[in-house]
Amino acid sequence: TTIPTIQIVDAPKYVGQTVKIGAWLRQKRGSGKMAFLQLRDGTAFFQGVVAKADVSEELFDLAKDLKQETSLYVTGEIHADDRSSFGYEISISGLEIIGESQDYPITPKEHGTDFLFDERHLYLRHIKPFATLKIRNTLIAATYEFFNQEGFIKLDAPLMTGSAPEGTTDLFETDYFGQSAYLSQTGQLYAEAGAMAFSKVFTFGPAFRAEKSKTRRHLTEFWMIEPEMAFMHQEQSLELQERYFAFMIEKVLERNDQELDLLKRDKDLLRSYTELPFPRVSYDDAIKLLQDNDFDVEWGVDFGSPEETFLANHFSKPVFITNFPKAIKAFYMKRHPDRDDVVISADLLAPEGYGEIIGGSERDTDYDYLKAQIEKEGLDMEEYGWYLDLRKYGSVPHSGFGLGLERMVTFVTGEEHIREAIPFPRMTHRLRP
Ligand code: 4AD
Ligand code: MG
Repeated sequence: TTIPTIQIVDAPKYVGQTVKIGAWLRQKRGSGKMAFLQLRDGTAFFQGVVAKADVSEELFDLAKDLKQETSLYVTGEIHADDRSSFGYEISISGLEIIGESQDYPITPKEHGTDFLFDERHLYLRHIKPFATLKIRNTLIAATYEFFNQEGFIKLDAPLMTGSAPEGTTDLFETDYFGQSAYLSQTGQLYAEAGAMAFSKVFTFGPAFRAEKSKTRRHLTEFWMIEPEMAFMHQEQSLELQERYFAFMIEKVLERNDQELDLLKRDKDLLRSYTELPFPRVSYDDAIKLLQDNDFDVEWGVDFGSPEETFLANHFSKPVFITNFPKAIKAFYMKRHPDRDDVVISADLLAPEGYGEIIGGSERDTDYDYLKAQIEKEGLDMEEYGWYLDLRKYGSVPHSGFGLGLERMVTFVTGEEHIREAIPFPRMTHRLRP
């Protein structure tokens, strides 16, 4: 009979059978009589046991001398094993080295974060990045599932642009055959054009911000999902946002039980964030609430991390802060019908200190107003002619929002810092690997 070659994740289906697995050695320990090999193959982690009494002396010596991150084929019988978190192990009867390993830098001892991210190309192999990035993958898949089932099409926005919709202070500028181009801060303006053609669209791609702020929530390159809906007012957009948010968490709870356990994330707490609706609190009320709780804030200021943390924790769930001051928000946001000083906007703040995960608004539809706004911001009118066209030819009410993927990953996984949420983070002081 031929021995099936399987992956670790499928081991539960092969209990009592002999199988072959291609894997890497994470760690090993042993005694004179046993060698315990901690194995990973990119699908899961489990243990291989080599018993001196059951194998040749050569094989036992080979097992004992293996270096960390050696790649190998192991052959053996799968057993259930209640002591391990995976629940199964393999009794090794055969072992073949594929690729030798040199002295691997990430040893089992504790390492500092800077070191681990200098070695990110290797660190990806370890449990925390593995679990975190698997959850990231579920959030990406759930995004496509959700928007496809809601009748959206994905519209790909360009990444090299002439415009600066989210402000001119944090642009990455590059030379484009003698003229200036900017790495895209947002796909939104293109999504608005798309909504006028396809009704409901979402963009999903990298966004670039030359943020000098070194916080645990900021990357200079991050991924953003930006839905844009024609004939949709802000209240319907908020309903869509909370359903999308809850859908993503549900999919992670369904599909990433093992990863959530590896990260020790509280699953009941996560589940509580799927209960809708989320509270809606006006910016005005949020300011009062903060003042009543001894925050030194005045109407008109933008919230920092302490304010956002307080507000979401106060409600113990994600909360929409609505209708921000016009002066601190982007030029395209719709004016409030009864008030000159606020716009029809909302940020979704997550509890546990994660802060803003979504920012969105209804969009102003008035040609003259938007033209004046573009001038006021000091933006290059030539770059916005096409955008203003959208208001010239059958303008309709429309709304949209942007969700930062890495903020969502950080929140769902319960990670401390956003750098964990992306395979190769880009931050002010990090451009490699
Ligand atoms: O609030 P922002 O700047 O909104 C926009 O870009 C709009 N054009 C969205 C829209 O209405 N279509 O960014 C949206 C989200 C934030 O809530 C946050 O989650 C994330 O993008 N984000 C960042 N994530 C990581 N690092 C940064 N530097 C980020 N800046 C924004
Ligand atoms: Mg924002």
